[in-house]
Amino acid sequence: MTSLIELQNITRLYRSDEVETTALHNISLHIKRGEFVAIMGPSGCGKSTLLNILGTIDRPTSGAYLFTDSTGAQQDLARMNEVKLARHRARHLGFIFQSFNLVDDLTIYENIELGLLYRGGVKGGRRAVIEAAMDKVGIAHRARHFPHQLSGGQQQRAAIARAIVGSPDLILADEPTGNLDTENGAQVMQILQTLNQGGATIIMVTHSQSHADQASRQVDILDGQLVASVAQVL
Ligand SMILES: Nc1ncnc2c1ncn2[C@@H]1O[C@H](COP(=O)(O)OP(=O)(O)OP(=O)(O)O)[C@@H](O)[C@H]1O
Ligand SMILES: [Mg+2]
Repeated sequence: MTSLIELQNITRLYRSDEVETTALHNISLHIKRGEFVAIMGPSGCGKSTLLNILGTIDRPTSGAYLFTDSTGAQQDLARMNEVKLARHRARHLGFIFQSFNLVDDLTIYENIELGLLYRGGVKGGRRAVIEAAMDKVGIAHRARHFPHQLSGGQQQRAAIARAIVGSPDLILADEPTGNLDTENGAQVMQILQTLNQGGATIIMVTHSQSHADQASRQVDILDGQLVASVAQVL
């Protein structure tokens, strides 16, 4: 497998007038294209901070974030300007959140269409691409509904469709099963497995050991530091 991400000595400090918090300290991590990585650790240890940096919606205080695209070109996202980062996110990333984050007054179809924002022309046409994404997560029959008319599991599947509609290389998921019951959580994990088998690299924060066990590697964080990174035998 080829390299996708190399984090070199990533540190993230939060400063206010009175206090300084070290959310991440000297994290170095290498992720190859096609991996499925689970990030685990206690509340407040820095998991979301790490995922937000990986998603370029937050920037490290110091350190390098090297990203290698499918052509082999490598860039340091820690030093990239905002305009280029927005383009990077649109081309390469898909986000899934614990609380779904669908837009209330847009239909499911329109919510998924948002995943194509800033992507310009889409191979195969927008409608076909959106319908294919809905089919992948079994939500096509709810296209004209609004988020509040769907169950939690359906909303999360719609949010996954929004994340994948632009065919991202990298899917970042912050506790994607955290608000779901066992059965819906299992469905979401099944979808993530299928996406990973289709070639997407997945980085998922989870508090569930059984869900982490379904990843190809587990990364453990404690007090902002990487304490273990273990490949799993599946
Ligand atoms: N905007 C912020 N300003 C100041 N401190 C912050 C900010 N965001 C996070 N922190 C601090 O950084 C540390 C890591 O927070 P983070 O949200 O990454 O934890 P987490 O591992 O995702 O926790 P959880 O499992 O509860 O979601 C915590 O001590 C938190 O208080
Ligand atoms: Mg968190």
